[in-house]
Amino acid sequence: MGADYLKEMFGLEGQTAVVVGGAGVLGGALCRGLVQAGAKVIVADLMEEPCRKQVDELTQLGGQAAYVVVDVTSRESIESLLADSLKQSERIEILVNCAGVNAGNDFLDATDQDWDRIMAINLRAVFQACQVFGRHMIQAGGGKIVNIGSVTSHLPLSRVWAYSASKAAVLNLTRNVAQEFAEKGIRVNAICPGFFPAEQNRKVLTQERIDNIMHGTPMKRFGEPEELIGALLLLVSPIAGQFITGTHINVDGGFTAAWF
Ligand SMILES: NC(=O)c1ccc[n+]([C@@H]2O[C@H](COP(=O)([O-])OP(=O)(O)OC[C@H]3O[C@@H](n4cnc5c(N)ncnc54)[C@H](O)[C@@H]3O)[C@@H](O)[C@H]2O)c1
Repeated sequence: MGADYLKEMFGLEGQTAVVVGGAGVLGGALCRGLVQAGAKVIVADLMEEPCRKQVDELTQLGGQAAYVVVDVTSRESIESLLADSLKQSERIEILVNCAGVNAGNDFLDATDQDWDRIMAINLRAVFQACQVFGRHMIQAGGGKIVNIGSVTSHLPLSRVWAYSASKAAVLNLTRNVAQEFAEKGIRVNAICPGFFPAEQNRKVLTQERIDNIMHGTPMKRFGEPEELIGALLLLVSPIAGQFITGTHINVDGGFTAAWF
């Protein structure tokens, strides 16, 4: 298998990807994978400074990158993200929805505000971004969307019940939107990561929980963010993944397989 063959199957030269949550731990790794495959990346995240840092790193890798600040709790902000991205590139071929928040609390202590915040960022924003960018992609002749789910898309893990509900819905939404967009040349899939050490996890990762995760993960370790890149590149690839839509890839060291 030659380098030219792999480039044809997986290469993203000339394509632009918007990565929402691109300044985060997993989003950052996905941005690095996309630029290494030849895409121009627009890092879309809440705060300017982490976005700028991410763009610097991508540029140092030899990639083409820019950033747009977005607050995905607002539809207007998502619409501005598309408009600002189109100032950077004529067309957006790839959208990755990777913004997400988590909170660990007892069911009876949680407030409506906790619930609304998690649903707005993890779920409603995915609906809105699929709609806003989907319209553009239909007009432009096609595209690829990847939503980031979780092992909690399949399993209701304790204490992170609102998060689990949001991620289960993200997976179902992904399947629905894939059907809506299939004949319009847009493929829509999800990646469901297992456990990756990241800032938002530290709040909920007690030693007991870490022990449980290790016990439940056949590979007996956390994931490394870069280990998500292979799944992403398959799902957004021009040829290798061209008949794949409405599904998900678990990248979880076997956690879900061991559970069922
Ligand atoms: N780390 C894990 O183990 C793990 C496992 C499964 C799924 N995930 C999912 O992966 C995604 C990335 O998580 P991560 O671990 O890299 O966490 P992270 O906190 O490093 O990244 C999340 C990003 O989302 C951004 N964000 C939050 N609210 C936003 C808003 N209102 N508008 C725009 N951006 C906003 C944050 O600024 C941050 O950069 C999330 O959807 C998360 O649920 C993570």
